[in-house]
Amino acid sequence: MFGKRRFPPETPSAEARRKPQSGAFRQSPDSAQSRLSEPETPVYTPTRDFERSDAFYETKKRTFATLIESIDLTALARTPGGTARKEIREVADEILKLGAPPLSGVERDELLEEICNDVLGFGPLEPLLAQDDISDIMINGARECYIESGGRLSQVPVRFADNQELANICQRIANRVGRRVDEATPICDARLPDGSRVNIIFPPLALDGPVLTIRKFRRDRLTLKHLVRFGALSEEARIVLEIISRSRCNVLISGGTGSGKTTLLNCMTGHISPDERIVTCEDAAELQLQQPHVVRLETRPPNLEGEGDVTMRDLVRNCLRMRPERIIVGEVRGPEAFDLLQAMNTGHDGSMSTLHANSPREALNRLEGMILMAGFNLPSRAIRQMITGAIDIVIQVARMRDGKRRVTHITEIVGIEGDVVTTQDLMRFHLVGEDENGQLIGGHRFTGISRPRFVDRARYYGLEQRLTETLSATDPVSPQPQAVHGYG
Ligand SMILES: Nc1ncnc2c1ncn2[C@@H]1O[C@H](COP(=O)(O)OP(=O)(O)OP(=O)(O)O)[C@@H](O)[C@H]1O
Ligand SMILES: [Mg+2]
Repeated sequence: MFGKRRFPPETPSAEARRKPQSGAFRQSPDSAQSRLSEPETPVYTPTRDFERSDAFYETKKRTFATLIESIDLTALARTPGGTARKEIREVADEILKLGAPPLSGVERDELLEEICNDVLGFGPLEPLLAQDDISDIMINGARECYIESGGRLSQVPVRFADNQELANICQRIANRVGRRVDEATPICDARLPDGSRVNIIFPPLALDGPVLTIRKFRRDRLTLKHLVRFGALSEEARIVLEIISRSRCNVLISGGTGSGKTTLLNCMTGHISPDERIVTCEDAAELQLQQPHVVRLETRPPNLEGEGDVTMRDLVRNCLRMRPERIIVGEVRGPEAFDLLQAMNTGHDGSMSTLHANSPREALNRLEGMILMAGFNLPSRAIRQMITGAIDIVIQVARMRDGKRRVTHITEIVGIEGDVVTTQDLMRFHLVGEDENGQLIGGHRFTGISRPRFVDRARYYGLEQRLTETLSATDPVSPQPQAVHGYG
């Protein structure tokens, strides 16, 4: 029941009928890179000053309160964005003239802009949201704001007038996607209109005021070539990942929080053929698949009465009835692991997901743990057989101590010996040292295995020669294939 999937399947697909493209990847990494026109890794350089005086916030608070009393919010909601902003600015300017302490021209302009942002948008968050080089925004109560940029965390002097203003903005974010957040429902996952992922946690759970965490949506869609450019993987490893995706291997991407799992998953999906039907299941829709035939599904939390929730497991089970060719699950963390493995074992080759773990071996342990915890009452050996039959490749990513995200392992599941799932690393990142700026020095190296187990699949899709050539292209770190290791 849980053995390795029968391969190749009886009916050849459109991809299988394509001619092998031997030699297409023979270009040197340098020549391939020189054609890349993608931008370099962004480095954070603040483009505006966020520092404000207490008097500024006090004036803003008073002006805002008077403004809200004097405008018709219902009429405002019907006014187009540009006109509304102009009108709010005019009214706020009048209020300022009536008795606010004197402000410099620049301060006045900034105050008017912030008031417009407060009424129409996300207040002090707006300038941070507008800056493309910021990847995460973390607001810990009204007075503390951190950002991540270029892999580094730093504090910025962005402030909200008080926790109430921050709470209002959080509520506005939640309301826009039909959710609510308050003391009674203090946890909320949401999305901004631009696709950024948001988590909100309110008092009394958060002790120092509302906490808002935003994973910003990247406007420039990353590809595997960008990741090579960023040093996250080598050109050869990129080719192997592309072949893994095109040969319809079942893939698990493993890594810690914010290590780049979803980004890599997104990049891997870039090599899925446009004629496949793909169904994605996510907690907060983040993936940006480019194929024409994609169905996107999103889970739903329970309502105030604790009813009506739709779990990841519900989605994965339902999508099996939607005739998917590939299933992409944003992240597995619970009982849906069982359904995903079953789907992978029953003809949905090329399915992919991510999971939180610090090594490929730990990823398999966690997967097994999820199924055990869900109470399926299966013996461990049966679960391990199921995992071996379903997963072909585990890709490990990590955010390293220099702030850079790298692919650290491409590991293949080989089989099961006794009770132990056996795996072999095809590629590993080798750390050599550190330069004077604290940047880690190292390289991605193949382990010397030029004919991995999935070579049969690659052959079926006309990619065998490219795969074996690439895997033997660079000097292996050790001349001997790495010893197969087990887990369990
Ligand atoms: N190789 C990379 N180089 C530079 N930036 C990257 C790289 N990979 C990911 N990022 C950036 O890092 C941030 C986190 O990436 P991502 O959302 O993929 O992580 P994750 O592991 O899925 O996080 P989470 O555990 O929160 O789901 C994003 O802003 C993304 O744009
Ligand atoms: Mg993610």
